[in-house]
This record gives sequence, C-alpha cells and structure tokens, in this order.
Amino acid sequence: MPKEEFQSLDPKFAQSLVDIVACELKKNVNITDDRGVIIASFSKERVGQVHEAAAQRLTAGKIQEFSVSAEDELKLRGVRRGVNVPIIFADRCVGVIGVTGDPETAAPYARLAARFVEAALESNANREKLMIALKEKRELHTIYVNKIISIQEEERKKISRELHDETSQSLTSIIVGLRVLAEMVHSTAEREQIIRMRDLVAGTLEAVHHLAVELRPLLLDDLGLVVAAQKYVDNYSQQYQIAVDIDFVNLSREQRFSPEVEITMYRILQEALTNIAKHAQATHIQVVLRLLRYKLILTVSDNGIGFNPDFSAQPDSDKCLGIFGMKERVELFEGVFAIKSVIGKGTEIVAEIPLKQKKKKKRIW
Ligand SMILES: Nc1ncnc2c1ncn2[C@@H]1O[C@H](COP(=O)(O)OP(=O)(O)OP(=O)(O)O)[C@@H](O)[C@H]1O
Ligand SMILES: [Mg+2]
Repeated sequence: MPKEEFQSLDPKFAQSLVDIVACELKKNVNITDDRGVIIASFSKERVGQVHEAAAQRLTAGKIQEFSVSAEDELKLRGVRRGVNVPIIFADRCVGVIGVTGDPETAAPYARLAARFVEAALESNANREKLMIALKEKRELHTIYVNKIISIQEEERKKISRELHDETSQSLTSIIVGLRVLAEMVHSTAEREQIIRMRDLVAGTLEAVHHLAVELRPLLLDDLGLVVAAQKYVDNYSQQYQIAVDIDFVNLSREQRFSPEVEITMYRILQEALTNIAKHAQATHIQVVLRLLRYKLILTVSDNGIGFNPDFSAQPDSDKCLGIFGMKERVELFEGVFAIKSVIGKGTEIVAEIPLKQKKKKKRIW
C-alpha cells in the first residue's frame, strides 16, 4: 500500500477512536483531518464543520498544541473551549484531536488522547503491512508453483516428442531391418536369434511409447481431455487389471478447454489412478468428469483400503508429493480439492476448477 494511504485518517476509524477515547476519558472529544475539517466527534452534529482554529494553524503549518478560550468560542466557527493536540503519524500531521473543557484540566487528557490515536494508527499500519507481506508471500508462492509446473510440463512435452519422433522411429527401423535380416539368413538358429532380438526391440518400443504417453499424451493436445482421459483409463484398466467406469457428464468428445485446464485435469486423473494402483488394493474405480455451468469437476472413487487423508500427521508426509501436487495445481485455478477416505471402504478425490475465473494470475504454460 502506498505510504499516503497510511497517512490520512479514515473517518470511520476516527469516529470509533473518538467513541473509545470519549468513553475512557469521560470528556467530549473531536478529531479533525489535516485541513481542520471535523471528521469525528462525540457530538455528531459537529462532523463536517470546519474547526476554524485548527484550520488556521494547519494551513499556516503551525503543528503544535493549542487551546481554545471562551472568547475564541464566540469569534471562531466550529470550535469549543478546550485543548487541541496534533496527531503525528509517519512524520506528518494527519489531524488534530481536541478535548473540550477547562484548558488546564483538558490538556493532559488531550495529549493522552493524541498518543492513543497515534498508537492505534501505528498498530493499524503494522497490521496492514503484515497483511500485505502475507499476501505478497502467497502470491510469490503461486508464481513459484506456476513456474515449476510450467517448466516441468514443457520439459515433459519435449522429451515425449523426442521419444515419439526420434527414438520410436529408430526402433521401428531396427525392427524392420531385423525382420528383413531374419528372412535373409539360412540357418534356423540364426533366424530364431534375430527374431528374439526383434521381439526384444518391439518390447522396448512399446515401453518407449508408454513412457511418451505418460510424459505428455499427444492425444491430449490433439483431441482434448475427454478422448485422452478415456484412452488413459482404457490402458490403465488393461495394465492393472482393475475395472474402471468412466462417465462424462455434459461433455462431448469434441469438447475442448484451455490447455492449462486440460493438462491439470489430466495430471490429476493420472496421479489419482496411479495412487489407486500403488496403494489402494481396489477392485473397482469410478471416474466422473462433469461439466457444470462455470466449473469442471473430476471425481475419482475407489473401493480400496482407504487411508487417513490428514497426511500431515504421517511421518513421511514430505515424501508424498502426489497429493500435494494435485492440491497445488487446483489451487492455481482457485479451485477446490478434497479427499474423502474411509478405512476399509475406499477413497474419493474431487477436483473442481472454475472455468470463468478472474484474470488475476498470469499462467504461462
Ligand atoms: N486411493 C488411495 N488409497 C489408499 N491410500 C492412498 C490413496 N491415495 C493416496 N494414498 C495414501 O496417501 C499417501 C500419499 O499419496 P501421494 O500420492 O501424496 O504420495 P505417494 O503416492 O506415496 O508418492 P508420490 O509422491 O510418488 O505420489 C500414499 O503414500 C498412500 O499411503
Ligand atoms: Mg502418489
């Protein structure tokens, strides 16, 4: 917040200070702004009036304590007999606080009231500064997480393309070459050895293809989330021999979202399913991807062993990056991430991303 904002007195804040001070001191109290206009007063009808004595001094730059006599009260507008003390904050006079009554008795009260107001302003400003620091820290964290995810996604995309375009092509050429070679040799033993080599390379090609898809499915970029999710689930179900039902609600195969939304939901699906394969001992999984008016919701439920989702209570929680990563990704969109798990019954994770979000945070990947 600019320094200026700390330096002017907020009328509401001034009025509550006046009420507190007047109640504590059992005196009539008023506060003017830095031009001598009464912004808060125990006698509410005075608010908005110019305190002529304060205004004259403030415009002349006379920042010091002054008293108002019974004669002044007759000559000047908006004044009451009493003592007025400048309120100094951040080396600037932000206003004047006046306590009415006999000047001699009012003086110590007025000084006390001014110090009280200054202390309140100081603590208010410190609180504001703390809030700003906290907000900046949070924003920095968001930028940092965003950057890590974007670099990671770029890197995965690059490696995936390389595996797909270079490595897979070379392995395919080797397979074709070995096939030709197998037909050229005359000895059965040699042919069998070449065929074994060819099968080995074919297995490696499959593994490379799988790795490329895990890293960054080209399907996701080309055909979108619905098609890529369906394909991922089909492969997963086959690989782990777990029955998976996937439902798309209000979604067609052609439906596209921004690349950030698509990759986020895809990664969450990937991590949730990987967790089930690794930890859940489940026999059935239900995946639902639902489009509501302004949000996209992914739900993944399993009938596995369940766990305590308050994993901060677990000793090696710092190693559990999967759940942390899902949560962080959703929070970048100001979405909602939740885990419900019952020991012996299963787990459900829900990731909800708002689609019409404020353009507050710049996303780079
Ligand atoms: N569906 C699930 N069923 C049962 N336990 C689960 C399930 N999902 C997560 N867990 C538990 O929560 C823990 C944290 O999961 P998380 O994905 O954060 O870490 P991880 O899978 O152990 O490691 P990684 O960082 O490789 O993902 C897991 O170690 C496991 O104990
Ligand atoms: Mg995990």
